[in-house]
Amino acid sequence: MRHFLSIKDFNKTEILEMIALAQQIKDETKAKKFVPYLKNQTLGMIFEKSSTRTRVSFEVGIYQLGGIGLFLSSNDIQLGRGEPLKDTARVISRMVDMVMIRTFEQSRLDEFAKYSQVPLINGLSTEYHPVQIMTDYFTLLEIGISSPVVAYIGDGNNIAHSWLMLASKLGLDIRVATPVGYECDENIIADAQKFAQESGATITFSNNPSQAVKGVDVVITDTWVSMGQESEKEVRIKAFDSYKVDSNMMSLAKPTAVFMHCLPAYRDYEVSEEIFEQHSETIFLEAENRLHMQKGIMVWLDNHRND
Ligand code: CP
Ligand code: NVA
Repeated sequence: MRHFLSIKDFNKTEILEMIALAQQIKDETKAKKFVPYLKNQTLGMIFEKSSTRTRVSFEVGIYQLGGIGLFLSSNDIQLGRGEPLKDTARVISRMVDMVMIRTFEQSRLDEFAKYSQVPLINGLSTEYHPVQIMTDYFTLLEIGISSPVVAYIGDGNNIAHSWLMLASKLGLDIRVATPVGYECDENIIADAQKFAQESGATITFSNNPSQAVKGVDVVITDTWVSMGQESEKEVRIKAFDSYKVDSNMMSLAKPTAVFMHCLPAYRDYEVSEEIFEQHSETIFLEAENRLHMQKGIMVWLDNHRND
C-alpha cells in the first residue's frame, strides 16, 4: 500500500503516471463521462486547518468517482478534544477506504500512516503541500509548458518545499528567492539536492527576487503568512516587503511568462492586484485542476493498494 505524503516518496515515472491519469479523468469528466473508478468507496477528510479548495475538490472528486467524502473537522471530532491521533487512525481507517488529512507537522501524517489500514493523502502540512504542486505542474503541462524554468518568490514554506521536491524529481530548473531568515528547511534542501544530482535538476537559492525571476517561464508565490503563523503577521510583512510580485518584478521574467498562485491570494502583499488579474485565467485553471489532479492521485493509490 502506498501513501501520498510527499512528492519525495515518488519517482518520475510514478509522478507522470498520476498526471496522465488526471488528464484522462479530466477529459472523461469534461465529456460528461463519469467513470466510477472508486465505486462505493469512502474518503475520510480530516481538517485541522481551514480550507476552500482542498475540501471542495476532494469532496466533489470522490463523488464523481462513484464514492462519497466525509468532512471531519477537528473541531467536531474527538481528535480536537485530545483523542490520540494513532487511535483516530485505527478507528477511521477501519471504516473508510482512503483518508486525506490537512494538518500541522508532517510527523502527524507519518504517525497517522503508521497506524492506518488505508492509503493516506497529505492535504497540506506545515512542511508540504504535494497535491497542490502536482496540480501546478499538471496545469503547466496542460497549457503547453513542459520543461519550465521556475522562480519561487517568497516564504520558504510548504509550497516552496513541494516545488523543490517536484523540480528535483523531474529534473527542472528552479530558482528560489526568500528573505533572510525565511529560507527553506535545511533537511528538505538536502533531499532536493540529492534528487537533483540523480535527475539533472538545477536548484538555486538566493535572497534576491529580481535576480531569481530573470528570464524564467513561470513565477510562483504564496502568502507570506501561512496558517498557524498569524501572530507573526506584522513582522513578516516587513521582512517580505521587497518580495511582492508586481509588474516590475514580472517584467524581468520572459515576456510569455505565466504567474501561478495556489490561493488564497492576499492582494498588495505577495502579489499586486494588476498581476493577479492579468494572470487570472492560469490561476483559476490551477484551482480547478485540484479536482482533476486529486482524482488521478486517488485512483493511482487505489490501483496500488496491494503493492
Ligand atoms: N490552495 C489550497 O490548498 O487552498 P485551500 O486552503 O482553500 O484548500
Ligand atoms: N502556505 C499556505 C498555503 C495555503 C494553501 C499555508 O500553509 O497556509
